[in-house]
Amino acid sequence: MMDKLIIFGGTSLKGEVTISGAKNAVLPIMAATLLSSGVHNLRRVPRLRDVFTMVELLKRMGAEIEFKGNSCSIDTKRISNFEASYDLVKTMRASILVLGPLLARFGKAKVSLPGGCAIGARPVNLHIIGLEKMGASIVLEEGYIVAKANKLKGTTIYFDIPTVTGTENIMMAATLAKGLTVIENAAKEPEVVDLANYLISMGAKIRGAGTSVIEIEGVNSLNPPNFHEVIPDRIEAGTFMTIAGATGGDILIKNVKAELLDAVILKMKDAGVNIKETRDGLRVTGPKRPISVDIKTMPYPGFPTDMQAQFMAMMAIANGTSVIKETIFENRFMHVAELRRLGANISVEGNTATVRGVKKLKGAPVMATDLRASASLVIAGLIAEGKTIIDRIYHLDRGYEELDRKLISLGAKIERIK
Ligand code: EPU
Repeated sequence: MMDKLIIFGGTSLKGEVTISGAKNAVLPIMAATLLSSGVHNLRRVPRLRDVFTMVELLKRMGAEIEFKGNSCSIDTKRISNFEASYDLVKTMRASILVLGPLLARFGKAKVSLPGGCAIGARPVNLHIIGLEKMGASIVLEEGYIVAKANKLKGTTIYFDIPTVTGTENIMMAATLAKGLTVIENAAKEPEVVDLANYLISMGAKIRGAGTSVIEIEGVNSLNPPNFHEVIPDRIEAGTFMTIAGATGGDILIKNVKAELLDAVILKMKDAGVNIKETRDGLRVTGPKRPISVDIKTMPYPGFPTDMQAQFMAMMAIANGTSVIKETIFENRFMHVAELRRLGANISVEGNTATVRGVKKLKGAPVMATDLRASASLVIAGLIAEGKTIIDRIYHLDRGYEELDRKLISLGAKIERIK
């Protein structure tokens, strides 16, 4: 369980890499299979720890699930248990995504309340308020959200914050509710759109996904489509762009939707990274030394919080000073102290990190604290001279499919020790 990654840094990474299906798209889509009885066939499913946690969650409810490579079939004909227990929810907050579907189809659900996590408190109050507005009765019992509803009813819900999984939960619940549900100030993330497309292919009536107003007209039942292919992971693609940019590399990134990465690509270009769209994918070439640029994380289409830590690793060796503002999560700078161990010059005040670029980083033992922080340490380790040992690498396995294999194929000197 406590695998470590050893990286011998200082090599420019070169070659081709193929991006996997998006973690944050496949997780809600897997939860959505609970909305209809039948066999759901998903393709381009990344083999990640979080995906297998969702598999375990659905299995405990009675789903039968089979994997062949990156294809996954989920049979939801015999769902008989409506609970997501604490031992799973505490390892993966996205477990909360089963709440809306269970409530909509079975009229009841018991889902452990996720606690805080390494990147912040991350409450789910907006999910709960939304479902209550749709007529659910919800109480908290021994750390569990216990929800009941005869039949959910359409209504208008305004989110104070455009929450991603909150939007997904309400959108899923609304597909089987009576009448029209309108979500205002909805999250516009591409993963919300992929979920909406899956729901629509099951027969749901949804308009406006990808905009800040989503309208869902409830239907009586849904049916699984022939198959669905999960969109490519824009954060994995962005991570490889940063790797090319930070190591002076030259990487052809395949299976990427560049139009979903506008903010990241523009900031990369400002940092001196060359990015060309070719027929085969995005060709990313790093400069000798990146130029410092400022970033501020924002909901989509702004610069993604899930790319902040990786970008900071690149800024650590950039020429100049970069100001990085994190506006989505209150505590998402856990990587800073670790980057400092490698010689980065970073100071933090509130939600703002100031990164004064240094000429080089030097390898050291460091500790991964969350998924994107781990990716940031991998990038820093690839840049650093000498040996970097990253402990608690399981965080990385939650969200990156075969990252070490992909990096090795690009020429990285990496070893995993068990
Ligand atoms: N928030 C509330 N109340 C709520 C819900 C959210 O106050 O009921 C706040 C959060 O505390 C946060 C902000 O709203 O400050 C935005 O959080 P959001 O709900 O959008 O985050 P999430 O849905 O829990 C998803 C991704 C995260 C990603 C964020 C932001 C999934 C499964 N997870 O989380 O992904 O960082 O959106 O884009 O889609 C990751 O992949 O590493 C990851 C953490």
